[in-house]
Amino acid sequence: MSKTAASAGITALRPGTGTAPRPGTGLARLLRENPALRIGQDEYNINVTANYGDQLSISDTAEALRTHPGAGRPAHLYFHVPLCAYICHFCNYVKRKVADGPEGEAAPRIWTDLLLDESGRRLAHAPWLAHAPVESVYLGGGTASLLGTEQLRRLLDHIRAHYTLADDCEISLEGNPDNFQRDELAEACAIGFNRFSVGVQSLQSEVNAFAGRGHDAAMSLRAIDKLRATGKPFNVDMMFGLPHQTPGRVADDIRRLIDLDVPTITIYRLRNADRAKMGIGNRALWNVESVKTRLREEHLFPSLGETYAMREAIVELLLDGGYHPSPCGWWNRPGVYPDGNIPRVSRNKWQRHDSMIAYGPGAYGWLTGDGDTVVQTHNIADISGYARRLKDGPGLPLASGRRLAGYQAIGMVLGFAFKANQPIDAGRFRRRFGVELFRDEPFAGVFADLMDRGLVEPVPGTPESVAPTLDGEALHEEIISVYFHQRIGGFAEAVCHR
Ligand SMILES: C[S@@+](CC[C@H](N)C(=O)[O-])C[C@H]1O[C@@H](n2cnc3c(N)ncnc32)[C@H](O)[C@@H]1O
Ligand code: SF4
Repeated sequence: MSKTAASAGITALRPGTGTAPRPGTGLARLLRENPALRIGQDEYNINVTANYGDQLSISDTAEALRTHPGAGRPAHLYFHVPLCAYICHFCNYVKRKVADGPEGEAAPRIWTDLLLDESGRRLAHAPWLAHAPVESVYLGGGTASLLGTEQLRRLLDHIRAHYTLADDCEISLEGNPDNFQRDELAEACAIGFNRFSVGVQSLQSEVNAFAGRGHDAAMSLRAIDKLRATGKPFNVDMMFGLPHQTPGRVADDIRRLIDLDVPTITIYRLRNADRAKMGIGNRALWNVESVKTRLREEHLFPSLGETYAMREAIVELLLDGGYHPSPCGWWNRPGVYPDGNIPRVSRNKWQRHDSMIAYGPGAYGWLTGDGDTVVQTHNIADISGYARRLKDGPGLPLASGRRLAGYQAIGMVLGFAFKANQPIDAGRFRRRFGVELFRDEPFAGVFADLMDRGLVEPVPGTPESVAPTLDGEALHEEIISVYFHQRIGGFAEAVCHR
């Protein structure tokens, strides 16, 4: 965009030429026209959280946590349960397989004790935490549902006793179909959970078996029946780009979920970047070079083109079924969530970018507010190291932190706002950062480019806002990485060095 157009503000941003009503019309074209957004499976680890900013020592991170002016401001809690009954070959989250025998039986209690211990230490260290209205609580992992009702109750009792929960606090439990086969969900509702997330990935048993998952299609469908019976909102996580998937097969899966009226269908493209190298996860089996080579030789990894063909097949069906994505990648049936059709955990995490307080190994959170900086906090990612730190003495199991200021913070907050797939309001950035998104560089150039390429569009009736188009939604992670983290945040490294 020319300087003159930029200085005229959003009215001068030309509507995009590629605002196709259906993304199915052109992902291949879109990627041809936007080669920077072609990110192959092995590089693909888009993280909306910034991998840049000034490193903070453990003591500086702890001090930032202690002094954060968070009392009276909305906050959100995340508890990471690093236990799994089996290890999926694609998974690079921080987790470990539960041992067989007595050690495994004790694991849910031991990990609940550790999480309670960490939460108690943080509350003592940062007393404001008890006075921040908590609007959402999320128990994820790993496999949070493996904790079982008794330990989940202990966690929720602790949270209710020590934090100030908003009356309508959204309390989500994440789990696997194999943990939702009996009365577990009814029990979870009875102890206070009011939203659920289940990882199905595929309804083709061959696909899940090849990935090493411990449930077949019948178990997934049974878990979905149980979820429907709770009457609560829930999402079903599905992946595309996995071995043995084809556009036709993934379409069959999504059609089935739509027929079952699943409230939110979350679609994830297979990421196979080595997050262990980046210091933010575990190495997955499919990250290992020799395994990757074999899978490639046997044509088991779909190509980028095939992967996007799967996405197009999925999205055509979701659009026909009346689903709308918000945040990007989370397709909601209309009317499930009041107020913009976006789950609360997503609105506050992505759109509002409220502070997130995260517990457990590898968990990361952020401290934010009206100020022009953001502080990220990272816990020790090594599971044994995390447990040792808590057992060996006082202190928080922090590994490091980052402080983002100026363009870095704006790039990160814009990335979160884009992910939310809600209007991006220039007024908010003017008030918080003193910048004019559609006039000042480098923001105006970025938005003009996105507009020209049909990746964002003005929001009718809101003169100061733009929002992702469906094409922008399709490539949201790539856009966040290239336009916001690199062009605005100045992050130029291929991998993250924490
Ligand atoms: C926190 S993870 C795992 C939760 C739960 N244990 C499960 O297996 O469903 C949440 C979701 O991330 C997605 N996921 C995990 N690893 C992925 C990867 N390498 N690439 C893309 N999506 C992934 C899966 O859809 C998964 O259900
Ligand atoms: S995908 Fe879920 S069950 Fe599989 S290893 Fe990762 S966290 Fe565990």
